[in-house]
Amino acid sequence: MKKLILHTLKEKQGYVSGEELSNSLGVSRTAVWKHINELRKEGYIIESSSKKGYRLTGLPDILDGREVSVPDGQQIGRELVHFADIDSTNNYAKKIGNDGCPHGTVVTAERQTLGRGRVGRLWQSDNSRGLWFSIVLRPDLEPEKVQIITLAASVAVVEGIIEVLDINCGIKWPNDIILGSCKLGGILTELSAEPGHVNYVVVGIGLNINQDSGDFDQELQDKAASLKLFTGKTHSRAKILSGILKSFEKIYTMLLAGETRQIIDKWNKYSVTVGKEVRIISREVEYIGTAQSVALDGKLVVKCKDGTLREVSSGEVQV
Ligand code: BTN
Repeated sequence: MKKLILHTLKEKQGYVSGEELSNSLGVSRTAVWKHINELRKEGYIIESSSKKGYRLTGLPDILDGREVSVPDGQQIGRELVHFADIDSTNNYAKKIGNDGCPHGTVVTAERQTLGRGRVGRLWQSDNSRGLWFSIVLRPDLEPEKVQIITLAASVAVVEGIIEVLDINCGIKWPNDIILGSCKLGGILTELSAEPGHVNYVVVGIGLNINQDSGDFDQELQDKAASLKLFTGKTHSRAKILSGILKSFEKIYTMLLAGETRQIIDKWNKYSVTVGKEVRIISREVEYIGTAQSVALDGKLVVKCKDGTLREVSSGEVQV
């Protein structure tokens, strides 16, 4: 009922009388009033006038299916599971991936208690000022080709932010989202596969949106960016998420159509790594070279000082 009342208020974009709501929905005016108050508690701003009724004037920035919108026919985000608190959206996505959830299911959380980053790091996501979500994908790809999904995901994030806010971010190989010279977000891709077959891929995305610098742990304060720190304004996480899911659908469709070259071209266009001198730190070696491009299999091609080309598939890249 609450959902229907909200839907009616959103559709009308003006006052709706309590009588109209109670008649059209077949409930008492007291019940309408109770639901309106619940919506207010959830952050919806609803004005009331004894003569005209109720009018919706403000939406809360919650990452649930009421505020995150997905166009008709879009698969990514059609199913959305939202948590106020969870250990890690990637953990939950893996669980429902194992249980057979549909392709494109998105898991969002206001806060994570054990957010995970790449290479076993922790990802600070203990407040609802950022965007913490995971997407379960069921691609018909060989497991060796999954790296391209991470590259496609970083392109989707950059293009989603351009679409919604007209702000240009960069990508640092393999998948850091960069704003100015600091890290705005990151992507943690996890794979469940058997030889020759992918069961599912979880793409976990963390983006800093409305944090002030004091919201970051001390050691992150000169490394982390947020959209609020960059623009001086607070942004709607729900709108940004909707935009990213839309651009994700677009790029995933390109992937299925075999347009790998075009995805890599986009990645190279947004890259802050290509053309720069980089220091590669892997478990075995450490060396300096110039990043040339990303290859079709997602590896970073680096030209070493002696002129030889090396392909980097893992490790840390310092620009
Ligand atoms: C990185 O180290 O750059 C990747 C960070 C990925 C963080 C996101 S937040 C949502 C999802 N859940 C997690 O536990 N991690 C990812």
